Amino acid sequence: MDLESYSTLECIIVVLLIMAPAYLANTIAVLTGGRYPIDQGKLYSDGNRILGDGKTWSGLLGGTIGGITVGYGLASLLGDMNLWGGNTFFVFFLLSFGSLFGDMTASFYKRRQNLQRGDKFPLLDMYDFVFMSLLLCFIFQPDWLLSWILDGWGPLFTILVLTPFLHRGVNIIGYKIGVKNEPW
Ligand code: CTP
Ligand code: MG
Repeated sequence: MDLESYSTLECIIVVLLIMAPAYLANTIAVLTGGRYPIDQGKLYSDGNRILGDGKTWSGLLGGTIGGITVGYGLASLLGDMNLWGGNTFFVFFLLSFGSLFGDMTASFYKRRQNLQRGDKFPLLDMYDFVFMSLLLCFIFQPDWLLSWILDGWGPLFTILVLTPFLHRGVNIIGYKIGVKNEPW
């Protein structure tokens, strides 16, 4: 199955549905996160934290499991519309874990730039997670990725344009309801 059989609006919705585990893994990590820092409080050779208190095992685990759960929820709602290929669990895992791994990689980079936990880094904060999700899928499930997300430029363009809005929107909501420390 590929995107050619859909209208433009349907394509956008399909792309967002496919990426939902990646988007929501990050959001769920904010809810489950905050316990057991992955770097165990350790410093890097530059004197800054390796990752910082914003990257915890409870966030990584909760977000990964949460993203996979979201994937299965959507898959069952959509019935036989098989958006995630034959290796469903693995694709859900790559999307969810990749999302948090990307976020973690960005934190490592931010700490090397002397930025503290929660400091803003506009483009990096917005794209780190989708980039790593897609990269892991590209490495481990290339056939699936080629058939959906790399099927022409439409899907990538959709992700590129909509991700900053989704990211910002969700973070503002998280900030307003008090689960996130900053609105970005
Ligand atoms: N979080 C977590 N573990 C993760 C990811 C996120 O515990 N692996 C939680 C943390 O409580 C974190 C919050 O989600 O503060 C928001 O995530 P994010 O904005 O990615 O972290 P920041 O606090 O901004 O830290 P950084 O500057 O390292 O990105
Ligand atoms: Mg942040």
